[in-house]
Amino acid sequence: MLTVAVLISGTGSNLRALLEAASEPGFPARVIAVGADRQADGFVHAEHYGIPTFMVPFEEFETREDWGRELLAHLDVWAPDLVILSGLMRLLPAAVVEAWSPRMLNTHPAYLPEFPGAHGVRDALAAGVSETGASVIVVDNGVDTGPILAQERVPVLPDDTEHTLHERIKPVERRLLIDAVRRVASGELDLTQTA
Ligand code: GRF
Repeated sequence: MLTVAVLISGTGSNLRALLEAASEPGFPARVIAVGADRQADGFVHAEHYGIPTFMVPFEEFETREDWGRELLAHLDVWAPDLVILSGLMRLLPAAVVEAWSPRMLNTHPAYLPEFPGAHGVRDALAAGVSETGASVIVVDNGVDTGPILAQERVPVLPDDTEHTLHERIKPVERRLLIDAVRRVASGELDLTQTA
């Protein structure tokens, strides 16, 4: 059974979907811990499924590197096979990426390499494209530049707002993420071959 730690900042709807999938009999992975850089609303989903949580509040550290060291210490305690960034709205220091990549995945609400960064949905809308998408990638030291494991197109509708478009992308992100975790857990996808 593949063990997974999930890091969040927000509402954790992708986390909730993964927890649901992982509670199905036969799913080859289970979430063993959920961490966040703040008091994230998504902790409620971890609590609902009885999954332990931890918080490493970014604001309490002098530097990003100090924060990263504490985050690494928490991840070391849980020692998961895989770490998933599911809406973690922080750039990770290089030491964290080096310690975990390629066993660290991220979801992104755009069709990478299009619209990387914190505002992928807003940027797609501003660019006036007719379709954007969702991606699952291996985390590397760039901003959303790691190897792409899965991606799918999502249409942009004429009256879309950032919210409506993001809400249409998220179910696709969830499906791609759950499938990627399943493929890693079953051995179908070897992350060491993705770099
Ligand atoms: C997802 O679209 C993720 O890719 C982005 O933030 C969103 C997280 O949503 N970085 P949630 O917290 O899972 O609801």
